[in-house]
Amino acid sequence: MSSLLTALSGHRPERLPVWFMRQAGRSLPEYKQAREGTTILEACLKPELAAEITLQPVRRHNVDAAIFFSDIMTPLVLAGVDVDIKPGIGPVIDHPVRTAADVERIVSHRIDDASAITEAVRLVVGELGDDTALIGFAGAPFTLAAYLVEGRGSRDHLQARAMMHADPQSWHKLLDWAADLSAQFLGVQIDAGARAVQLFDSWAGALSRADYVDRVQPHSAKVLAAVEGRVPRIHFGVGTRHLLTDMAEAGVEALGVDYRTPLDEAARLVPGLPLQGNIDPALLAAGWDALEAHARDVVERGRQAPAHVVNLGHGVPPTTDPQVLTDLVALIHEL
Ligand code: CP3
Repeated sequence: MSSLLTALSGHRPERLPVWFMRQAGRSLPEYKQAREGTTILEACLKPELAAEITLQPVRRHNVDAAIFFSDIMTPLVLAGVDVDIKPGIGPVIDHPVRTAADVERIVSHRIDDASAITEAVRLVVGELGDDTALIGFAGAPFTLAAYLVEGRGSRDHLQARAMMHADPQSWHKLLDWAADLSAQFLGVQIDAGARAVQLFDSWAGALSRADYVDRVQPHSAKVLAAVEGRVPRIHFGVGTRHLLTDMAEAGVEALGVDYRTPLDEAARLVPGLPLQGNIDPALLAAGWDALEAHARDVVERGRQAPAHVVNLGHGVPPTTDPQVLTDLVALIHEL
């Protein structure tokens, strides 16, 4: 039985499960080699390559879960939306969605063929033993819309936050469409063998609680409801202390917490819910003694939750020494 799935069911396995957001990626030399000559979005649609990259960190670090190598933009690409991911920048949309007419245009896009995803997930699951579960994922409607409306990453998401008030009807139409796309993307991964899912609402922390509850959470809840009862659902965002109870109420089995909120505090905010997190990614470059002390503190605070999946409080920075991650997994398994 996978320790990840035990923890996500609310029980404490013998050994703490640990995996890292962005564990597949630029911190690994074998990733850089495999990706050579291929853009990230191309790599996501090549089943053998995506499967190989998914498995690399499992082989190297002995983590307790694989996260499917893809991107929150992949469903948009599959639906024929004109998006790109620029190195060092992130997702870029040439024609941002700003007006009611833009929204009308984009919501006509549908995913017809997701066979590249099905095939990649099947290849991964065929290689993983029973002990290591594959986690599927999707971007939450707000985080997808934040890119679509802004046209690229943004600190304050001013245009997206303006649009939800300027034209609520178009806003809800856009998020409802994004929710369907994310739900479909998760469904394909589960059908092919993913045994848990994570909904990334990375940028939800930029929202006021009122905007989140009225204009965002119902759409995330729709995505999560679409997979309810199939596999455990993890919900994660950055800077979301003020939203944790609402993110939990969207319908989840576990909540991901970023590095700003100590897990004992999170456990008080969402009692009874397994938590995932929240080693500060900055500590990966702070020397072993500082990292070990911090990791022990995170695990200690995590004991206030019914179960704990150890992870970082956000993704692995590309400059991380991979040996530090391998050593960190070994430490967590001893605690
Ligand atoms: O190992 C894993 O976590 C699985 C793969 C994964 C990727 N993207 C691959 C990727 C996952 C889970 C994502 C999700 C994702 N993508 C999120 C949510 C998670 C988070 O970090 O908050 C977001 C916001 C994106 C959008 C995105 N894609 C960004 C901001 C970037 C970084 C751009 C850069 O160059 O710094 C990407 C590109 C991307 N997606 C990379 C990887 C490994 C790095 C680019 C590369 O390797 O060429």
